[in-house]
Amino acid sequence: MSKPKVIVSRKWPEEVESRMQELFDVQLNETDTPMTAAQMQAALQSADAFCPTVSDNVSAEVLSVHNLKTRIIGSYGVGFNHIDLDAAKAHALAVTNTPAVLTDCTADLAMTLLLMSARRAGEGERHVRNKEWRGWRPTHMMGAKVTGKTLGLIGMGRIARAMARRAFHGFGMKIIFTDPYPPPAEVVDSLQAEARASIEEVLREADFVSLHCPGGKETWHLINAERLALMKPGAFLINSARGDVIDQTALIEALDQGVIAGAGLDVYEGEPAVPAPLLTMQNVVLLPHLGSASRETRVAMGMRVVENLQAFFNGEEPRDRVV
Ligand code: DGY
Repeated sequence: MSKPKVIVSRKWPEEVESRMQELFDVQLNETDTPMTAAQMQAALQSADAFCPTVSDNVSAEVLSVHNLKTRIIGSYGVGFNHIDLDAAKAHALAVTNTPAVLTDCTADLAMTLLLMSARRAGEGERHVRNKEWRGWRPTHMMGAKVTGKTLGLIGMGRIARAMARRAFHGFGMKIIFTDPYPPPAEVVDSLQAEARASIEEVLREADFVSLHCPGGKETWHLINAERLALMKPGAFLINSARGDVIDQTALIEALDQGVIAGAGLDVYEGEPAVPAPLLTMQNVVLLPHLGSASRETRVAMGMRVVENLQAFFNGEEPRDRVV
């Protein structure tokens, strides 16, 4: 029997690409050049499976291609707001993602952003590299203490819980959260976490607010000027979720006016563009969407795609089916 034809949109870790070559008739992307909409459409017309990543916009228009051959979209990443799921459903396409394997690394990175923002680590590093450091002194680059402070989580899914574990056990932080689908009581109890009825309550009370909700229409600009104004002036906003959850213009204004003390961002609306004012602000830490970017995790994500494709082509239900 001939192997299923699979097209991969970006360069993947070598181990995963080798496994794909063993199992499938795979077209890899050696140059790692992002695919255009037309190239994605050509892939959908010629492959049994198409494997995009979170930076490919698999829109309704892309999916509306004539002579669609693809039957499964095996996306590399946990988020799926880059795929028009209604259109995928309408075209009877299966869609899978890669949850769980990136939980720890993304929580590690959210914690990194929290620590870097509070302790002015990015600013400090620039200071040293720019040869501006004049030596230790009692009032030099004082930041905010993290231990014992209150961490407010917007969304309490896998990554938020992993961050809460780090913050509670490692830094003695008080955990408050809001989520329309709260975790089981034993999870909440193990973190001595307290639920709040609204985003507003979390924003008013937390010293650090970390966003852990999906991107997309329902959470677009969830954190806007009104909500930023509810945060404490000494508080920090951390975003390792999706860029469009924050109104970036409102955030820039809030950082500039001292409405909040600082922010740590790994994601942006319209990536890879980063608004120019953020680039010159000292009270914001900027990372290039590195949440899952450890070698182990990126390999595990790829292997999870492989597993989903294998199940699908064996006539089984893929474990990570989204639609
Ligand atoms: C995802 O998987 O959704 C992340 O944003 C990239 O790791």
